[in-house]
Amino acid sequence: MPLPSKLFFVILLISGLLTAAYAAPLGQEETQKIRAFLDEMQEKGFLEPINDSYQYTQAEMEGLSRSLLLSSNDHGLCLQDQTWGQVWRMAGPGKYKGHNKVDLIIKSLPAEKPAAVLGEVKALGLIGDLVDFGTNSQGQHTIIMKRKAGVQLYEAEAYKKASTQKKSEMAKQTARLGCLKSAEGVFHKGVWHNDNHMYNILVVEIKDESVKSVELVDYGEGQNYLVHGEARKSEYISKYYDWCIHLYGQPFGFD
Ligand SMILES: *[C@@H]1O[C@H](CO)[C@@H](O)[C@H](O)[C@H]1NC(C)=O
Ligand SMILES: [Mg+2]
Repeated sequence: MPLPSKLFFVILLISGLLTAAYAAPLGQEETQKIRAFLDEMQEKGFLEPINDSYQYTQAEMEGLSRSLLLSSNDHGLCLQDQTWGQVWRMAGPGKYKGHNKVDLIIKSLPAEKPAAVLGEVKALGLIGDLVDFGTNSQGQHTIIMKRKAGVQLYEAEAYKKASTQKKSEMAKQTARLGCLKSAEGVFHKGVWHNDNHMYNILVVEIKDESVKSVELVDYGEGQNYLVHGEARKSEYISKYYDWCIHLYGQPFGFD
């Protein structure tokens, strides 16, 4: 099939998904069928988990041990400081590898799980957000990536001001748009972001108390996958979407 018509088909499919969502939650039988599909794809190696089982190349491993030229001045606002690692906004002024520093994120992870880090590096490369990777002066594996626009839903002014009922609707819209974005990523980029909880979805636009667009963040170790071959077929897109809704479609604590 030539690309434009295939793309058209995918857009139709995806807009169909959006309007159908929540009409009928998945039954147990449907859920089991999708689980079986995902297991089969993983056994065949078409769904490659982003964790320590990632099969890295020698060159990737060498790349990871390269020293990054980052100073403490480059570390701006700390967004996360957890046992699994730290995330900062890069501080300006100036450029890093041709990008404005203020548009970048620095993510540092402990050195024990190089394969998982390389899986995330691969995913970010495929979606076009990877800027650099290597090891920082403290010996932590570090990824430099493009920063996504948006804020977590609970930080959005329109959400804070909304009624309880509207808040609940906005949370579901956010989950749904996140799942849509993740299903699109499978087809277009070969990356399945399936770590789609509310803190990994940034809300980009809210209009008339309705969430209109989102971005996904955090392709790290967890429920994320690199997708190859057969598992990327357009006819399977709805399975990824349905599975995501099954896991994340009813966000808790956001109403
Ligand atoms: C990687 O993730 C997959 C899928 O979630 C899981 O089955 C597997 O046990 C994990 N492997 C490692 C080494 O963590
Ligand atoms: Mg995470």
